[in-house]
Amino acid sequence: MYRTNTCGELRIQDIDKIVTLSGWVQKSRDLGGMTFIDLRDRYGITQLVFNMESNQELCEKARKLGREFVIQVEGIVRERSSKNPNRATGDIEIEVTSLKELNKSKVPPFTIEDDTDGGDDLRMKYRYLDIRRSPLQNNLIFRSKLALETRKYLDIQGFIEIETPFLIKSTPEGARDFVVPSRLNAGQFYALPQSPQTFKQILMVGGMDKYFQIVKCFRDEDLRADRQPEFTQIDCEMSYVHIDDILNTFEGLTKHLFQHTLGVTLPDFPRMSYDDAMKKYGSDKPDLRFGMEFVEMNDFAKGHGFGVFDGAELVVGICAKGVSESYSNSTMKELTEWMQRPQIGAKGLVYVKYNTDGTIKSTIGKFYNDETLNEWKEKFGAENGDCLFILSGETEKTRKQLNELRLEIAKRESLMKNGDFKPLWVIDFPLLEWDEDSKRFHAMHHPFTSPKIADIPNMLSGDHETMKNLRADAYDLVINGSEIGGGSIRIHDRALQAKNFELLGFSKEEAENQFGFLMGAFEYGAPPHGGIAFGFDRLCAVMNNQSSIRDYIAFPKNNQGRDMMIDAPSLIHEEQLDELNLKLDLKKND
Ligand code: AMO
Repeated sequence: MYRTNTCGELRIQDIDKIVTLSGWVQKSRDLGGMTFIDLRDRYGITQLVFNMESNQELCEKARKLGREFVIQVEGIVRERSSKNPNRATGDIEIEVTSLKELNKSKVPPFTIEDDTDGGDDLRMKYRYLDIRRSPLQNNLIFRSKLALETRKYLDIQGFIEIETPFLIKSTPEGARDFVVPSRLNAGQFYALPQSPQTFKQILMVGGMDKYFQIVKCFRDEDLRADRQPEFTQIDCEMSYVHIDDILNTFEGLTKHLFQHTLGVTLPDFPRMSYDDAMKKYGSDKPDLRFGMEFVEMNDFAKGHGFGVFDGAELVVGICAKGVSESYSNSTMKELTEWMQRPQIGAKGLVYVKYNTDGTIKSTIGKFYNDETLNEWKEKFGAENGDCLFILSGETEKTRKQLNELRLEIAKRESLMKNGDFKPLWVIDFPLLEWDEDSKRFHAMHHPFTSPKIADIPNMLSGDHETMKNLRADAYDLVINGSEIGGGSIRIHDRALQAKNFELLGFSKEEAENQFGFLMGAFEYGAPPHGGIAFGFDRLCAVMNNQSSIRDYIAFPKNNQGRDMMIDAPSLIHEEQLDELNLKLDLKKND
């Protein structure tokens, strides 16, 4: 028997028990006649003590153990004279009577403790060592619990878990596909699914009514902290539903998950239209943990001779509470330069400071007297000590820029409080998005999303400007400024689906070739249906107040899309290329 107990289990009531433990040597300390070892496993850390006086041979053997050696010890549970209140096992230690080395370890390339000195790539290369650290273990344990609770909730709601294939034909979700060459069909390729979108719809046509799957999706897109090339979705679809049925079901899921993993009771989720989100926050995923709602100023800021505002499509500002004195001239200069970086592209930044002594300091004093600026103060609900930040320009761009500033100020002022969860449904997304570069419409969500019923006549009208204003039955779940999930009511009518492909610039042949199977299925009694997918990795991270999803994935890729541990992607043998009929093509590219 390797162990009678784990390293996280023994307490004061176990004193005098004879126990066997196995685990890794986290740390050892020699204090004259005594050697102490912290023995670690998944469950915790237990202190071992070796006494030079009572057993010199054993003590010397213990002193030779290096970090991460795997050992088995037998001993007696003793009460510690100096207790460690920060550790669950901190009241006891094991007086070791026998020690067996089960395996040696090279010196690890970084410290395997809660705070590590390892850089990202090094930790990924030695992921098995990183996974020994308790923060990573806790993340993976959390993830497992979240998946279990998801299954429990969806099972109670009558959902059936169904697997869909990974070797498929391209499903457009806005990213590039990863492709897999087919050996048996020379020159042809499978695509890995960007999501199981078409399959879950087909399952509805197949009468499964309520489907879910915790499923890997693959997208070849630029990576960020909250994006991985392979990630996991809680993917769901339901038949005979309207938007409310879906929002209620998945609000229920979210509440269940928060309650049963974190013990957090979420209030009912507010709903906000896409248009309102853009108008009030300049973002379709606003962080509602703090205010700084936009105030549009066209009505009262124009017409005072300030050309920058007068000539702008939109003048819009936010009120930052309590910063008028703490933001010095140099902070303002730094913020302005930050806003002028090409990534944000603001031309300048206007501010109005309402100082605590009642004076006003602004960059536009020449055009607006104190009386006018005091009227602004009221419109913004500002008080002495606050500062207005104002941008102007083309509407969409200016809103996006002000969103960046709002987030930056919230960061500087620590307004994004951990443990404060502000979920939000953003609804009524546009159906289509006009892309100036390609001079084409793109589906804002995906091409299977239904327009609102009231907008169908406009959709069929073919008028270009009207197309830009079509609304979709599409929604996103946003928590603390992160897009956690997205979905829609789907088109279930062949003619309407064909029309949507046409608007998206597909020729009849292309649409038939790529999605004929789906449109064909719609001809055999497709029920009205809709669904949603949650980003499972993102949900894990947001629930734990983290912005990066990487440490909620056991084996993530780095920013170049590489798996540092197995060193993938990699070259493959010539014979393999031959078999896949790829060799000639590659040579052509040389
Ligand atoms: P969507 O493309 O919005 O919808 O994806 C759903 C959710 O998946 C997460 N997500 C990602 N997470 C990590 N890395 C990525 N690269 C990544 N891309 C997306 C996000 C997102 O909200 N088939 C539709 C769903 C539907 O209509 O039912 C879909 O995939 O949290």
